[in-house]
Amino acid sequence: TGTYTGRFRVWRGDAGGGSLQEYQVEVNEGEVVLDVVHRLQATQAHDLAVRWNCKAGKCGSCSAEINGRPRLMCMTRMSVFAEDETVTITPMRTFPVVRDLVTDVSFNYAKAREIPSFVPPAGLAPGEYRMSQEDVGRSQEFRKCIECFLCQNTCHVVRDHEENKAAFAGPRFLMRVAELDMHPLDSAAATGLDRRATAQDDHGLGYCNITKCCTDVCPENIRITDNALIPLKERVADRKYDPLVWLGSVIRRR
Ligand code: SF4
Ligand code: F3S
Ligand code: FES
Repeated sequence: TGTYTGRFRVWRGDAGGGSLQEYQVEVNEGEVVLDVVHRLQATQAHDLAVRWNCKAGKCGSCSAEINGRPRLMCMTRMSVFAEDETVTITPMRTFPVVRDLVTDVSFNYAKAREIPSFVPPAGLAPGEYRMSQEDVGRSQEFRKCIECFLCQNTCHVVRDHEENKAAFAGPRFLMRVAELDMHPLDSAAATGLDRRATAQDDHGLGYCNITKCCTDVCPENIRITDNALIPLKERVADRKYDPLVWLGSVIRRR
């Protein structure tokens, strides 16, 4: 019938500590991990804390680690596990636990606020903006982000290094800086804001050593490393080695 009793270990606890609890829960054909978590909550663990909204991989709320791999619970089919396999569900490791599977992701909102927004070009009214399709396509890929923060959770720069959090914005937000720096209409430079300089100095681009773990876990399959982080590094390097910039700095030093 496609129904079986699955074995699960779910992390229960809060900021003060916790442990893995074992449960046996009914699993039906076609279900995803979030269905089982909801059944567990309805039948045995009524106070189990879990965050979710859409069950369609679009709200970015149900991020967790399943058998150690960062994933969306609503997009992880139970059929990827063997029926006799114990499925372990733990909260994202990089962010502080609120309770059970719910973490406090405010680190990410703080990093988002540190990035100055798009600066519209002076003298152009809405409706007069023109962009090539190639430029539109580039930022469209980055705009698919659902802010699940799985990439932020996975990047080794912060995953086990609380001390790096102050200096490093993480892949999702470096991608945002890249998007703005590549945007042909962004006029931040006219206001004295050098996005390439801030990428390096304020958002910690130099910490990224392009391991691509962020890209591997992105549920939207955004090519974060290849299309945002590496190009941004190249743009930062261009700025540093641009002969005119170099000459300018030599002249200023004299
Ligand atoms: Fe999630 Fe991908 Fe956005 Fe990172 S870039 S927050 S993994 S959707
Ligand atoms: Fe981290 Fe992704 Fe760079 S995992 S090191 S931000 S390529
Ligand atoms: Fe919305 Fe999983 S519940 S992404």
